[in-house]
Order: sequence, then structure tokens, then C-alpha cells
Amino acid sequence: MLERYEKSLNALERRNLLRGLVPQRGVDFASNDYLAFSELEAIRDAVRDALDDGVPVGAGASRLLRGNHEQIVALEDEAAAFFGAESCLYMGGGYMANFSLLTALPRRGDLIVYDELIHASCHEGMRAGKATCKEVAHNDADAVEDVIRAWRAGGGTGQVWIVVESLYSMDGDRAPLDDLMAVADRHDAFLIIDEAHATGVFGTGGRGLAHAYEGRDNVICLHTCGKALGCHGALICAPEVLCRYMVNRSRPFIYATAPSPLMAVAVRKALAVLQETPAYQDELQNLISLTGEYLSERCGLAASGSQIIPVVMGRDGAAMELASALQAQGFDVRGIRQPTVPAGTARLRLSLTRHVDETQIRTMIDALADAMEKHL
Ligand SMILES: Cc1ncc(COP(=O)(O)O)c(C=O)c1O
Repeated sequence: MLERYEKSLNALERRNLLRGLVPQRGVDFASNDYLAFSELEAIRDAVRDALDDGVPVGAGASRLLRGNHEQIVALEDEAAAFFGAESCLYMGGGYMANFSLLTALPRRGDLIVYDELIHASCHEGMRAGKATCKEVAHNDADAVEDVIRAWRAGGGTGQVWIVVESLYSMDGDRAPLDDLMAVADRHDAFLIIDEAHATGVFGTGGRGLAHAYEGRDNVICLHTCGKALGCHGALICAPEVLCRYMVNRSRPFIYATAPSPLMAVAVRKALAVLQETPAYQDELQNLISLTGEYLSERCGLAASGSQIIPVVMGRDGAAMELASALQAQGFDVRGIRQPTVPAGTARLRLSLTRHVDETQIRTMIDALADAMEKHL
């Protein structure tokens, strides 16, 4: 009975694609805790106070039963105001949120045009949904428009949806949001923008790269809470009617226990800290600048301009060896392989967080330069 799973794992091992869980160790160049909010005393205090005030650990039920805790409602109101959206829905996580959006909103007869590098959760949502889905080359707004035109010319009459990330999780580059928004407007399309890696880091007060567009009728933004906000869950920011529709039609929303009210307290505090203390964002931006300069000086690598820096090696083996060499020197740097990134583009994904300081960054880059010389 268990044999076929063993066999399948053995096959992965033969292809050097077997993954395993390892304990946390080494200086953090791997997490998405960009602002180090997961350990921020102000957020821990807020959670402690809430516990003392009787806020429950678990919601106890789906939102539509008894799980609609006032902390979650307060978070949604504050998040909608903070990001500039008409309404907001707090979900259990970004994966679930993307899956929920793409299974609930687009219908049979609709068209979804998506960037080839969007997150796995969008792919799963599209696969489970009923719309026609077309992939376009990365960050190519003209290609998005060509696909829409061709589909309309071929008789497509449904609603069009465009799905992108604002800052790509494995490349650290930005989407051409102005161009994509213009395409969406020209074709009466919805634009779904996954802000997972931009929330808290970019945009006025950490409001994300799509802030200028939030609040429009044809824009839906996803702000995950498990990355720069240091918590857990995800905030779907959208027109009010769409949030109400999700409450009635999104099965993962309806049939899952609501997120922990204590986590809602933590996210509320994280949003408050973003507004009160822009210095955290500034500190991260300084780390991003100095890393870019030093990487180009020591390794000849171009900066991504963000806290996510890919060092593309190509071969899986080369990326994994490089990662191991850095891990052996005390740096938590991870190699990323297919299917997370396209085959032939295996890489190190360096991520910058406030958990590291300038000296640690320089030491890591020195080690990277030495290891690259040996492995290239
Ligand atoms: C772009 C993007 N969207 C969504 C998710 C899923 O978010 P969560 O971790 O909150 O489930 C991730 C997680 O890595 C991501 O990188």
C-alpha cells in the first residue's frame, strides 16, 4: 500500500529533487520575515494583552457560523482603510486566498490571462476553476493585450481577468503595473494583483506597489500577512460586492474554521506599526541598497532592486552545491529548483530581512563570491 509512495520518493531522490525538512539554522537569508515583525516586541505585547483580555486562541467555527470574531471584523475594517480598498476579507493564508479568488470569481466562459511566473496557488485555483486560462511571457503587458484581443476575435464574450504578482517571489522584479492596469481598463478586465512580497516593504507606508490602484472597481489586491507583516493569513482587498460574493460563494471561506482571532490582533498591530514606524521600512531599504552595491562589486551580479535577489545558476546541482557551501559557513541560504522555478533556472534565492545587519551581509557576499569562483 505504501510502496508506490516510497517508489515515487526514490525516483525524486535519483533525480536529486528530494526535499526534506531541516531545522532552522544559520543567519537568515531565506525567510520572508522582511521587517522581522515575527519577533517584534510591540506585536508580541499586543497578543499577550489580547490573551489577558480573553481573546480566544481559536475562532471555533467558520465565519458563517460562530467564527466571526470582532477582532477579525476590526482587522478587515482597518486593513481596507489602510490599503485604500472598499472592502477586505481576512483569509487563513495567501495560498487559500488565491485559490478562493480564482475558483469563486471567474466563471465558465471567462478568460484568465496570467503571467508565467505567478505563484503555485494561482495555478491551483485556475486548475480547479472553470474559466479558460492563457499564460503569457513574464511581465509582457503587450502579450496580455494580444491574448485578450485574439480571444475576443475568436468569439470570447465572457469576463476577462488578468492575474499577476506585483513583486515576483523568486525573481524579485516588479510587474509593469501601469501598463497592465491600462490593458485591464481598455478591455473592461479585472486585474488581480498578488502583493505578497511587496506588502509592508514597498509603497507609501508599506501599502504595496499597487496602492495607487486600490479602490478601483476592477482591482483586487492580495496582501499576505505571513511575510513582511510577520504574522499569518491574507487580506483580500476588493470592491465590497466581491467580498460579499466570496462570503457566499467561496468554498474555502465557507467551509473552513475562521483564522485565529489572536492572529487578527497580531496583524492589526503589524499594520499599526507600519504606520507609526516608517523607520523599519527605511532600514530594509538601506539593506537592499547596500546589498545591491556590494553584490555587483564582489560578484558582478545585477541588483534586483528589491529584498529578493536571485542568483541564477542554471543547473540544479550547481545551485544546490552553492547553497550547501554557504550553509556550511553559517548562512541560511536556500537553493530553489524546479518546479518552483522553471527547469534550467535553478538559483539561490537570497532574501534580505531586518534579522541581518550590514556586516553579516558583507560576510555572506564575500563567502558567495568565493563559492561562485569554485563552482562556476
Ligand atoms: C506570491 C505568493 N503568493 C501567495 C503565497 C501564499 O501565501 P501564504 O504563505 O500566506 O499561504 C506565497 C507564498 O510563498 C507567494 O509567494
